[in-house]
Amino acid sequence: MKLIQLSTFVFILILTSCGTPNKEEVTDASKVAEESNSFDRVWSEDEIDYHTLSNYMDVYVSHIHLDVEISFDEKKLFGSATHTIENPCNKDIIVFDSRSLDITSITLNDGEEATYEMGEYDELLGESITVHIKEDTKKVKINYSTSEGTRALDWLVPAQTAGKENPFMYTQGQAVLTRTWIPCQDTPGRRITYSAKVKVPNHLMAVMSASNPTVKNESGVYDFEMNQSIPTYLMAIAVGDLEFIEIDERTGVYSEPSMIEACRYEFGDMGKMVDAAEGLYGKYQWERYDVIVLPPSFPFGGMENPRLTFATPTIIAGDRSLTTLVAHELAHSWSGNLVTNSNWNDFWLNEGFTMYFERRIMEELYGKDYVDMLALLGYQDLQASISSLEPKMQMLKLKMKGIDPDEAMTDIAYEKGYSFLRLIEELAGREKFDVFIKDYFTTHKFQTMTTEVFVTYLQENLLEPNSIEFNLNEWVYESGLPENCLVVVSERFNSVEAQLTSFYETNNANSVTPKDWSTHEWLHFIRHFKPETTVDQLAILDDAFHLTQSGNSEIAAIWFEKSVNAGYDKIDVELEAFLMRVGRRKFLQPLYNALAATPEGKQKGLDIYVKARDNYHFVSVSTIDAILGYSPI
Ligand code: BES
Ligand code: ZN
Repeated sequence: MKLIQLSTFVFILILTSCGTPNKEEVTDASKVAEESNSFDRVWSEDEIDYHTLSNYMDVYVSHIHLDVEISFDEKKLFGSATHTIENPCNKDIIVFDSRSLDITSITLNDGEEATYEMGEYDELLGESITVHIKEDTKKVKINYSTSEGTRALDWLVPAQTAGKENPFMYTQGQAVLTRTWIPCQDTPGRRITYSAKVKVPNHLMAVMSASNPTVKNESGVYDFEMNQSIPTYLMAIAVGDLEFIEIDERTGVYSEPSMIEACRYEFGDMGKMVDAAEGLYGKYQWERYDVIVLPPSFPFGGMENPRLTFATPTIIAGDRSLTTLVAHELAHSWSGNLVTNSNWNDFWLNEGFTMYFERRIMEELYGKDYVDMLALLGYQDLQASISSLEPKMQMLKLKMKGIDPDEAMTDIAYEKGYSFLRLIEELAGREKFDVFIKDYFTTHKFQTMTTEVFVTYLQENLLEPNSIEFNLNEWVYESGLPENCLVVVSERFNSVEAQLTSFYETNNANSVTPKDWSTHEWLHFIRHFKPETTVDQLAILDDAFHLTQSGNSEIAAIWFEKSVNAGYDKIDVELEAFLMRVGRRKFLQPLYNALAATPEGKQKGLDIYVKARDNYHFVSVSTIDAILGYSPI
């Protein structure tokens, strides 16, 4: 063992440039597939994260201890973040990311005052904190507080919660928002473990992406541990009037008490999902898998915070029809959380793999017919994205330098990524593909991954041994959708289309017989309304099927969009109520876009938005401000 370490050490001295890569020296990406936090590290150019101001390649953090208090009165989180650092090349500064944080003081090791400088404010990246360190510096403690309008944090007043009696707060870290609530080296290029002591008002409970309490305690002080290494974008906390119920021994749900019973039913298959996922691609590495259902302002459907997926309440449909989202966030426990995109250019590695894995889990539980519907809806999204996105955003491997990484969240990463993997599955055969994917996760667990390393690994371990040749470069590095993209066929959707055709021929709702339709058939039906559909035709369907009153958020959202496009105003009351309550960007964006298409619609949208804006998280606000050209005074 000693011998191996010694030889590795000699290897490092020869090969690493000890820090930021020298473009001429380091080009062999295949050498990068080493433990990402280990000493023997050769960085390739592809790994450079342009969305951090930190010097994470030179000096890096291995553990963060948070000691913070949460004040709902001041809408502030304050306390300290103590970083345990590794400084193999004996540098004299460590640089952290921050954004709109008030740094009060910084100390080294056991309390020695440190000198530090704040960098200039960068609109995209925030402000760097450069701390001067010494050879013996092992710990850097940053005392700080968040400020008004901190981007990651959403502070909700009681009226914005289900129970209406207590405030609520949650964070959203991905992609570059963790630096707005924790000063840290905010890059997926390094992994940290973390621990935390969090004080909250004593009638509330705090939960994190870590080991969690299941009951409230009197003191309002909660301790957390995350012993598996993660990138900082997965650090997360939620505080509110929370209750926990178990689904099985290792899965459960947190929500406000008034929703817990609905959650018990909706998420009843969660344990089976974890079993199915393990059966496919290897042991679940995070011990527990729980979900927290947040208030409706949560800007995403779900966020894969390890051990504790954060989810929107809009997936509670009463019939488990929207729990694909749970399979998705669970799948990230392998793709994303275990093998992590090296930087935001490689975002498709997180999301494309997760879409593929998600559908495999769903196939195990609900069969191929069900998944064909999901895949076809996804393919429709992909085609829409290809026709609307500029070519440089249509590659799997992106060039996000200078661009907000949030903009990488398109169907290219998700659905083109899915289609690419689905094609390889087809070429290799499922059996070989599954062995390959399982090995890929096992070999690279708790590491970061670049597109280039993945491609090399794919060639060496699956394509070459099986003499598979195809237009791989076109798929990964070019825009558009290659011609050999598999076309999904869904028998169930074919029947839906036939019924829609006959409705247009007859204008009679009796030609539509949706008795056995799932949510997905409804979505396919409404998505395929012709652009020239009249207000009268919408009224016939609405009278027969009460779509305006649908309690299913996906069905309601697409119905509202089509209604706005057609000028069908019987939806107005429900549309406004929906926009006031729900903050999920995936729904808000198309709805405000549809409204903004006409001058009257835009005014209607603005009138609602000025009232609703406070109910939305920063992530959604930034998108909708741009759609409506709105800027607060
Ligand atoms: N990790 C994403 C959410 C995300 C992506 C947040 C990029 C910030 C930046 C999450 O896993 C996700 O993909 N959510 C989807 C779920 C859907 C595809 C089932 C969502 O929220 O719509
Ligand atoms: Zn995802």
